Amino acid sequence: MWKGRFTQDTSSLVQQFGESVSYDWRLYPHDIAGSIAHARAQQQAGFLSAEEFSAIEGGLLDIRKDIEDGRFEFKTSLEDIHMNIESELTRRIGPAGAKLHTARSRNDQVATDTRLYCRSQIDSLTIALRKLQLALVDRAEVYAAAVMPGYTHLQRGQPVTAGHHFLAYVEMLDRDVSRLADARKRLNISPLGSGALAGSTINLDRAAIADELGFDGVSTNSMDAIADRDYIAEVLFALALCGVHLSRLSEDLILWCSAEFAFASLADAHTTGSSLMPQKKNPDVCELTRGKTGRLLGNLVALLTAVKGLPLTYNRDLQEDKEPLFDSIDTMHLALAVNTEMILALTLREDRCAAAAADPMLLATDLADQLVKNGVPFRQAHELVGKAVAVAIAGNIPLDKVDLGKISEHFGNNTAEIFQIERALASRTNPGCPNPLLVREQVARWKSVLS
Ligand code: ARG
Repeated sequence: MWKGRFTQDTSSLVQQFGESVSYDWRLYPHDIAGSIAHARAQQQAGFLSAEEFSAIEGGLLDIRKDIEDGRFEFKTSLEDIHMNIESELTRRIGPAGAKLHTARSRNDQVATDTRLYCRSQIDSLTIALRKLQLALVDRAEVYAAAVMPGYTHLQRGQPVTAGHHFLAYVEMLDRDVSRLADARKRLNISPLGSGALAGSTINLDRAAIADELGFDGVSTNSMDAIADRDYIAEVLFALALCGVHLSRLSEDLILWCSAEFAFASLADAHTTGSSLMPQKKNPDVCELTRGKTGRLLGNLVALLTAVKGLPLTYNRDLQEDKEPLFDSIDTMHLALAVNTEMILALTLREDRCAAAAADPMLLATDLADQLVKNGVPFRQAHELVGKAVAVAIAGNIPLDKVDLGKISEHFGNNTAEIFQIERALASRTNPGCPNPLLVREQVARWKSVLS
């Protein structure tokens, strides 16, 4: 492609070191769509005849078909997807192919391809995220009223409903969806026409090209358009954070499936056994999801590190943007699919959950609230209940069996009902609480949002 000024062939080690086609081949549908739009603009501007344009378009569509059918031979000697396609096009259709690269550089081409790739991946990841949300909503509906302990510091805090716990993850995933949508808005801009870095003296209709490719507009600074990889960083960040959410879900499930908690069981299909210990049933999917989150974080840091020291505009370092991007996207697709399947088949051991939440101690805060309702300032109420807790611990008796009248007359004589868990949950009537009624309302809301 650049033989004009060189007298030596590229060293084979340099080829091996610099090729990207072994992974960027997957940009082919976007590369071809970009080339067809570019060629159409060239024809409209009078640089290609109608026949030359159809030869280019037909040739590119044939190449796409061959790649799809696995019949295309990628050559690392041609470095990347862009040169593989262009060179094969010229081989197939002759001189018209050699005109395609007019007013274009691989620099604006690769930026275009990766933007289109990110856009289509955001769309499919959004569907996958919605499916996982729906799976969690499904479990939240089944276990809307199932009582379990809620934890802070991994110490039992207050009773919650399992439905509320599942819906917490639906909220997180919803923010992930909106972060991806936000990134999509910003990245959907056409860099084509920026050339190598300074545009071109051949002025093609940039807006028409952008329109054909479904972009919302054209970039407004050629140097920025060539150097910018913010959109990849944004996608990698959104996926890293989504990974962190999945990793926290994994950790909850790993705890729940341990014999110590025994709150939940995963289906056999989503667990593995031990080659040595016959009794084992391991939550590998959760552990792998947690483990793979490390790659998602690493990919974000790899990209930011590759970009941080670069002067404007294109530097070959930028070729290192693609493997982290592809890896995070592939990892996330699989993680979402397998977690969706696993969550749908998860069963809660409601008796175990309820037993763990049955200690009246978990309603110590509700008891303090009752004192407040009886006119005691909260700090004082906290102290009085603290004394009751100390009596319970010292006497090894449940909190609801402590003689509260001995501690303060403010407790009144209706404290027994404070210790009814169902009542405790039902009296939380404000939006956002674990009350089963509210959980069911949220389930209904999510169902309508997600459908
Ligand atoms: N394969 C290259 C990349 O991914 C395409 C752009 C090459 N541009 C250049 N000036 N060498 O970054």
